[in-house]
Amino acid sequence: MVENLSKNNLISKVPTGIKGLDDALNGGIPKGNIVLLSGGCGTGKSTFCLQYLVNGAKIYNERGLYISTEQSKPEILRAGMQFGWDLENLEKKNLLKIVYFDIVEGDDFLEKVHDNVAQFAPQRIVIDSLTTFTDSILVSDDSEKKPYTFAKVVTSVSPIPKSERIIARAMLYHLIRKLRLFNATVIMTSELPEKTDFLSADEISEFICDGVINTYFLGIEGANSLTLRIRKMRYTDHNKSYIPYSIVSNKGIEVDLANAMDVLMK
Ligand SMILES: Nc1ncnc2c1ncn2[C@@H]1O[C@H](COP(=O)(O)OP(=O)(O)O)[C@@H](O)[C@H]1O
Ligand SMILES: [Mg+2]
Repeated sequence: MVENLSKNNLISKVPTGIKGLDDALNGGIPKGNIVLLSGGCGTGKSTFCLQYLVNGAKIYNERGLYISTEQSKPEILRAGMQFGWDLENLEKKNLLKIVYFDIVEGDDFLEKVHDNVAQFAPQRIVIDSLTTFTDSILVSDDSEKKPYTFAKVVTSVSPIPKSERIIARAMLYHLIRKLRLFNATVIMTSELPEKTDFLSADEISEFICDGVINTYFLGIEGANSLTLRIRKMRYTDHNKSYIPYSIVSNKGIEVDLANAMDVLMK
């Protein structure tokens, strides 16, 4: 059924509002997809996430929920100001909700995600980042008794040892199953080390998610140092090349689809 829908292009799209990227996605992210945005630190993942929600609110009048596990709310508001986004104003209009969950302090992430999504009923959801969530599983006294509660974070270990990986996989399935109940279009970020064969920090979410967009610091020679690639996107055809982009003051992310290349230049 899904295949037919895809063939006839009947799946509705959720535009990111970022022109070159929407063109690369043939209109946007298929509605209801859960997309992993994975890449090195400072490649603009959080900026991208904010822009996705700001555009959703301003252009499409859709509610967006930003679930942060890293930056506090004041930090996110300050980051938004860099790009000319009055996030507080969007919150007042009930088009945006920014929440910070302190997983390290033992916030029950899955329960809080569920409660916030159920209460705010967003069309767009961001989880920034998933890495904090999966890293927090690297504890283990409590995890046998209470598999969905985390006591403390020991350290960030990469790659995740096998036993923890099984728990991480169970947790991610659980999170994604919860998210799917609400039919929102979701972007989750993952912090990726520069040298890895995997597409996410937890080495699992790329298989579970409907889409994967990777960001790289290496760029196309002589042009830009930032490049992205749509690695996987279920239910739509899409551009598969490396696409240069930049982070611009007072604007945000700008994607230069015209200069997309088949090979990532080092
Ligand atoms: N006003 C700005 N103009 C241009 N680039 C900026 C501006 N503010 C931040 N940046 C760039 O964005 C990067 C941070 O982006 P961020 O979305 O936080 O990345 P990530 O979430 O992938 O770590 C900074 O390292 C900087 O290069
Ligand atoms: Mg970030």
